[in-house]
Amino acid sequence: MIKVTLHKDAPKAECLILPVFEGDGLDEFGKEMDARMHGMLNAVVGSKDFDGQAQQYNMVHTGDKELPRMLLIGLGKQKDVSLLAWKRTVGTGIVIASNKKIKNVALYIPADIVKKIGDTTCAYETAVAMELANYSFDEYKVEKSRAVLLTDAAWVMPDLQTKEVWQKSASEGAMVADMTNEVRRLGNTPPSIMTPTFLAKQAQALAKGIPKTKVTVLSKSEIKKLGMGCFLGVAQGSMEDPKFIIVEYKGGVKTQKPTVLVGKGITFDSGGLSIKPDQYMCEMKFDMLGAATALGSLIAAAKLGIKKNIVALLPACENMPSGSAYRPDDILTAMNGQTVLVENTDAEGRLILSDALCYAHIYNPKEVIDFATLTGACMVAIGTERSGLFSPDDAIARKLTEASEAVAEQLWRLPLGEEYTDAVKCDVADINNMGGVGGNRRYGGASAAAAFLQFFTTHPKTKKTYPWAHIDMSSCYNGPKGKPYIRGGANGFGVQTMVEYLRT
Ligand code: BES
Ligand code: ZN
Ligand code: ZN
Repeated sequence: MIKVTLHKDAPKAECLILPVFEGDGLDEFGKEMDARMHGMLNAVVGSKDFDGQAQQYNMVHTGDKELPRMLLIGLGKQKDVSLLAWKRTVGTGIVIASNKKIKNVALYIPADIVKKIGDTTCAYETAVAMELANYSFDEYKVEKSRAVLLTDAAWVMPDLQTKEVWQKSASEGAMVADMTNEVRRLGNTPPSIMTPTFLAKQAQALAKGIPKTKVTVLSKSEIKKLGMGCFLGVAQGSMEDPKFIIVEYKGGVKTQKPTVLVGKGITFDSGGLSIKPDQYMCEMKFDMLGAATALGSLIAAAKLGIKKNIVALLPACENMPSGSAYRPDDILTAMNGQTVLVENTDAEGRLILSDALCYAHIYNPKEVIDFATLTGACMVAIGTERSGLFSPDDAIARKLTEASEAVAEQLWRLPLGEEYTDAVKCDVADINNMGGVGGNRRYGGASAAAAFLQFFTTHPKTKKTYPWAHIDMSSCYNGPKGKPYIRGGANGFGVQTMVEYLRT
């Protein structure tokens, strides 16, 4: 993690990152720096090269021994600046500096930014943006071509007063982002290594030494005993044994009902016998990111000492074609006794989640929130910058949306309803694992998948239903090429939102 120190004046650093609002020219601090650099900054700001537009930047070599480089970086117009814009600006500055093999920076935080987003939020989110930008998935490369990461950042705030508040929020933000980077590492790890067994070991390693936190890993025979026929059906084509990973954090009083997080843990999705075409199979190592997100969120919440009871349920297996693989036309029986027709073995996520959603009933949960890279249809619907949110419960949907807005991650609510529930109706079993609206498989696929999951939120005997939300993150988990403010690979979507949701 980057060591953050707080300053009123610019200390010695390899590079000073100087954010500038569009069209405003240099502010008071900028003018001070400009005077020290004999007008070098002002020569750039306002020139054709740079006027502070978002994502614009210009590196100035100053010749100053204490501050040899200044990175002018655009914030966009002051009236439009948002938390998202600020985080992207900070991230971009860090990625540029790190690409130039710079290890320590000074980052100027304009008072107008602090005023706009508040000091605790600014401290927390600036730390998050820095840490996310300071991660690179390159551990499989020879050492000399790996990214040079930052070690130190001096935050420069001429009006700084409440140092303790800033330091505390900054270290919380850094911890949450560090856990988010762990989630990214899990997602990026090649599928030959990231097996269900390996994921279970990673859960144990991440939880190690954290008070009130316990990991239980159920083996194949235990999964069988529980009657998780849908989960086992998906797993049966693989040489790798499935694992049902349970992480419990008891931060609340004994009587408090837990929030249960469920995560899809397909460590590789070949599609099974309904095999994926090559261009769609690539990147299916990321199909366990739902599990990683649920796990990372719980661990971060536990490290923050949040006073809640939280459980993460992570069904983990591989979806492979083989002589022992489950087939289209198979009928599987879920843990609650309901039967499922397999029409397509590539719609496996909803099958493993169905058993986890059945298992969640055991906890008499306050609420259940699942994370899954569930459908390509979600990406077709909303693109690649947001994740789909589904819930019959307006209060949870609103709270999750607010939490996502508070951390500048983007959730977008998509519908549940009769037409989607009808789409997964089945003649030969209780429910079908495929379905589209109006009889067309391609229509409303993300909502039909959500409707399938919703079916398992009601216990068939007791008729008890728990409050539930589903997050389809297949639209927003990964950028192969990266962005100016974050490098390529898994992006850790969801951890920040979930931590915010749990702490408020
Ligand atoms: N893991 C995929 C969904 C996915 C697609 C995630 C692209 C990330 C990027 C899921 O298991 C799947 O294959 N879904 C099918 C469902 C279909 C067969 C009903 C899909 O989306 O095509
Ligand atoms: Zn699939
Ligand atoms: Zn999948």
